[in-house]
Amino acid sequence: MRIGFVYDLREEYLAAGYSELEVAEFDSPATIDEIEAALVHLGHDVDRVGRGQNLARRLAAGERFDLVFSIAEGLKGRSREAQVPAVCELFEQPYAFSDPLTMAATLDKSVAKQIVMAHGVPTATFAQLRSAEEADAATLDYPLFVKPVAEGTGKGCDAASIVMNKDDLRQSAARLIERFAQPVLAETYLPGREFTVGILGTGDTARIIGIAEITVREGAEDPVYSYENKEACEETVVYTLADDAEARRAGAIALQAYRALDCRDAARLDLKSDANGLPHFLEANPIAGLHPTHSDLPIIAELAGLGYDNLIAEIIASAAHRQGVIVGGQEPVTHACTCCAPKVREVA
Ligand SMILES: Nc1ncnc2c1ncn2[C@@H]1O[C@H](COP(=O)(O)OP(=O)(O)O)[C@@H](O)[C@H]1O
Ligand SMILES: [Mg+2]
Repeated sequence: MRIGFVYDLREEYLAAGYSELEVAEFDSPATIDEIEAALVHLGHDVDRVGRGQNLARRLAAGERFDLVFSIAEGLKGRSREAQVPAVCELFEQPYAFSDPLTMAATLDKSVAKQIVMAHGVPTATFAQLRSAEEADAATLDYPLFVKPVAEGTGKGCDAASIVMNKDDLRQSAARLIERFAQPVLAETYLPGREFTVGILGTGDTARIIGIAEITVREGAEDPVYSYENKEACEETVVYTLADDAEARRAGAIALQAYRALDCRDAARLDLKSDANGLPHFLEANPIAGLHPTHSDLPIIAELAGLGYDNLIAEIIASAAHRQGVIVGGQEPVTHACTCCAPKVREVA
């Protein structure tokens, strides 16, 4: 297949004057090289399109790909992760991963929590604060955990996110609102085990590839799975495949949330347990990091014995099948989904 590869390269944005924190979720040349190598290894032709604006220009000029594979998270706005999928839909360009609605809903943790709650998925009680003053009206039980409502990679999540009383809440909320220029989510602090669940496929065919328990090592500066700990994860974090009753419950809850949010092809869901060992949904990542050794989804794939190339192959197969794109002469397995193009197109 001819694959249009869309991504936001960290270096490009740093050179343009953006800060490390602003580009924290963007991709390193290593990630892009590794994904491209896996796609080539799987027999595909890869066209490095780069950022979403390049894709929009090329699609507007009439060019099409058999499939767009985008890991671009966008720079501005709370629907930034929906931008590339929306451009693809505008030009009837088949693409991998979730659609714009899911991308936007999952980036906003408050919206995602409301959707999964409506489907009976356990998630911590929460309030969204648009100003520090709104903390005074919050009636939640302490301790609470405070984080920006629409960020990722642990940005704004550290020891100071754990607040014990209204004064702390006001201070932490003020700090995060100023730093990230967006509302904060204050939710019940979950003191139990932490899991991240890798899921592949779409709808009824979605399946768990592995459930990893995340443990921040003793002696790490911060006890939270924070931005700093994620960046230095090789030294500060232990990832273990977990298969006990609590972990399996986390997996079942993650799968329920994946379907409630209509995730497609692949995603990683984060959960943390309460004091009674019941896992709660924290958030879903429909554009999960794909660095082979540094990102959680490939780490899960490796621990589960699937491996990096097979992970990428399964994502491509899922995206191709639901859009009727035939990979390597195989019949597509289409399903009755209103958001998928019915056309069957044969490609190498
Ligand atoms: N309610 C909570 N209770 C305890 N820890 C939390 C809570 N919410 C988040 N965390 C910690 O902060 C980390 C980042 O939070 P998460 O919601 O996954 O956001 P991100 O998009 O930054 O990954 C989690 O992996 C977890 O360690
Ligand atoms: Mg997370």
